[in-house]
Amino acid sequence: MKLQNDLLIRAAKGEPVERTPVWLMRQAGRILPEYRAVRNQLSGFIELAKTPERAAEVTIQPVDILGVDAAIIFSDILVVPEAMGLPYEMIEKKGPFFPQTISTDADFKKLKKADVASDLGYVTEAIRLVKKELNGRVPLIGFAGAPWTIFCYMVEGHGSKTFSKARRMLYQDPMMADQLLQLITDSTIDYLKAQVAAGADIVQVFDSWAGILPPEQYKRYSLSSIQQICDAITEVPVTVFAKGAFSARQDMRHLNCETIGLDWCMDIQNSRRLIGENKTLQGNLDPCALYASDAEIEKATQHMLDQFGQSRHIANLGHGVYPDTKPEKVKVFINTVKAYSADLRAKAQV
Ligand code: CP3
Repeated sequence: MKLQNDLLIRAAKGEPVERTPVWLMRQAGRILPEYRAVRNQLSGFIELAKTPERAAEVTIQPVDILGVDAAIIFSDILVVPEAMGLPYEMIEKKGPFFPQTISTDADFKKLKKADVASDLGYVTEAIRLVKKELNGRVPLIGFAGAPWTIFCYMVEGHGSKTFSKARRMLYQDPMMADQLLQLITDSTIDYLKAQVAAGADIVQVFDSWAGILPPEQYKRYSLSSIQQICDAITEVPVTVFAKGAFSARQDMRHLNCETIGLDWCMDIQNSRRLIGENKTLQGNLDPCALYASDAEIEKATQHMLDQFGQSRHIANLGHGVYPDTKPEKVKVFINTVKAYSADLRAKAQV
């Protein structure tokens, strides 16, 4: 199926585009009343994610309602540990919770490599449904958590400011940490390959907790597994978003991926220098900018576009959109990207 709007894919590959493509991390769900209406008909997030017809519906909502240039499959990064044998719950207003965690060898031995066909078939089925319903309107983004970020949740059991239990394992039992990270990496590669086979046009790896490791540990325990994933996914472009990975930007230029995501604290020009010209950059407006007046949002978005320049950029926020953001404000951001980036290119041609 040929894509009618393939701006995102062309931008990822470094091909010319008429305007900068735009989408938002965490655009599916969270901010839309239409999402909450669907969710309220079910028992909660997990049931919604496991019901392919409904997951497909909320995946497409932001395309129709917000006008983004891509859909991202509605799921969560934590479906991978569940498929490895560690089920999770999503506690209202608090976030994910794992009743069992990994701290001893015996815990580790109970895990298995995810069997994607039997345990994650609901995700690939949702992808198939979305692709059918989108009918080529925009590309579909598949995703997974980076092994380090998944490791954090499997060891800690829930969100944390420091993930000190997860980081403690790197000092007390580095061998087990390596083994666990490898099992997550192997599971993630199979999972992403299955998403691509089902129709994902590009995939993104979310390393949300990249920023809590010192540089050497980040290289050893996170970047090395991200590299394995990038090397394995050759069928579609890959985006790596490592939040807070300031120290790793220079090394990231060597990853076998097309796009690097920047968070809002990363200086755009400095990041471009560190990462080089051969990658597309994605991001990076401060999600809090969407609480400003429309005029201020326009100004901040234009300033961001000026800094990224007109090639190799995918517009996004510097992290997921915050749940209490008004959809109208998101539209101001999206419409500004579309109009201003088209304008800049038109002006560059005269
Ligand atoms: O981008 C999208 O809209 C697609 C869907 C998506 C979800 N989670 C749905 C979700 C994606 C890409 C994720 C990724 C994810 N999940 C990350 C990486 C990105 C990031 O934000 O750093 C992380 C760390 C998680 C783990 C997770 N899931 C947490 C910490 C929470 C609770 C807090 C929160 O973010 O809402 C979730 C729950 C979750 N994942 C919800 C949704 C729509 C909210 C559940 C609900 O509707 O009640």
